[in-house]
Amino acid sequence: MSRLPFAVVKPLLLLALLAAPATLLAQAAAPAPAEPQIGQQGKDVIWLPTPESVVEKMLEMAGVGPEDVVYDLGSGDGRTVIAAAHRGARAYGVEFDPALVALSERFAKTAGVADKARFIHGDIFETDFSQATVVTLYLLTTLNVRLRPTILKMRPGTRVVSHAFTMGDWDPDETGESDYRRIYMWIVPASVQGTWRLTLPGAPPADMTLTQQYQKLRGTVSLPSGAAELRDASLRGNAIRLTLAGGDGSLRELTGTVDGDRMQGTAKTGSGEVSWSAQRR
Ligand SMILES: C[S@@+](CC[C@H](N)C(=O)[O-])C[C@H]1O[C@@H](n2cnc3c(N)ncnc32)[C@H](O)[C@@H]1O
Repeated sequence: MSRLPFAVVKPLLLLALLAAPATLLAQAAAPAPAEPQIGQQGKDVIWLPTPESVVEKMLEMAGVGPEDVVYDLGSGDGRTVIAAAHRGARAYGVEFDPALVALSERFAKTAGVADKARFIHGDIFETDFSQATVVTLYLLTTLNVRLRPTILKMRPGTRVVSHAFTMGDWDPDETGESDYRRIYMWIVPASVQGTWRLTLPGAPPADMTLTQQYQKLRGTVSLPSGAAELRDASLRGNAIRLTLAGGDGSLRELTGTVDGDRMQGTAKTGSGEVSWSAQRR
């Protein structure tokens, strides 16, 4: 191997000696990455943490347990995700600020739940959270309403819990309170709008037309005895209940479950219980 002449090596050595302390100096002088500050601007809303007692109440209302997949949209310092992981759930936070993601990961590690609490650096409007069984929010009503169409396409029965902010004209299924903060919970309803062929024992099949606004239903059923009015019709996830009020004064209380294009359940009549079913037309 040929050696480089000293005349060539000397200036390189000098450069290396000069460069080394300069790099160290530059590192020492560089400002430490800023720690996230409560109240700091976020992409669509500032960072304000939910008090721990409110987090617990939100998770309690949603009944979070080991079988759940929880997504906190706009996860701040990760406290809701970490609390959900403590309940045994697989929990994900979606957060736009990388410094908050780093802080959350540190907190999850310290809390001993890093295997169950994961943080996604991303935009809540571009991240797929369709696998969630529970979604938690502390955003703004305008942002909740923007998320609403995506949420309504989720599996029926998915629980959505929001600290302080509503979903516009989608009324909550439950409300709660902790630390003087309002908490709202919605249950994603099955989609039942349209016409169904209803089969009740002892009667020919009848058309049932349902109009749906979130979990609230209105509609009519054309029974041989005349049109029956639907009363108290509602959904809780894929659990449906409705009362058929016949023109002859008869009342039939139907409860059941919706499974895609089919529903079935039990009807209470004056004389006992019978099974019913309906098929989407
Ligand atoms: C009010 S804080 C709530 C934090 C946390 N969920 C809690 O309850 O403690 C809202 C969070 O949403 C984040 N954020 C705002 N817009 C976002 C977006 N488009 N995508 C992801 N995160 C966002 C902010 O950085 C902030 O951390």
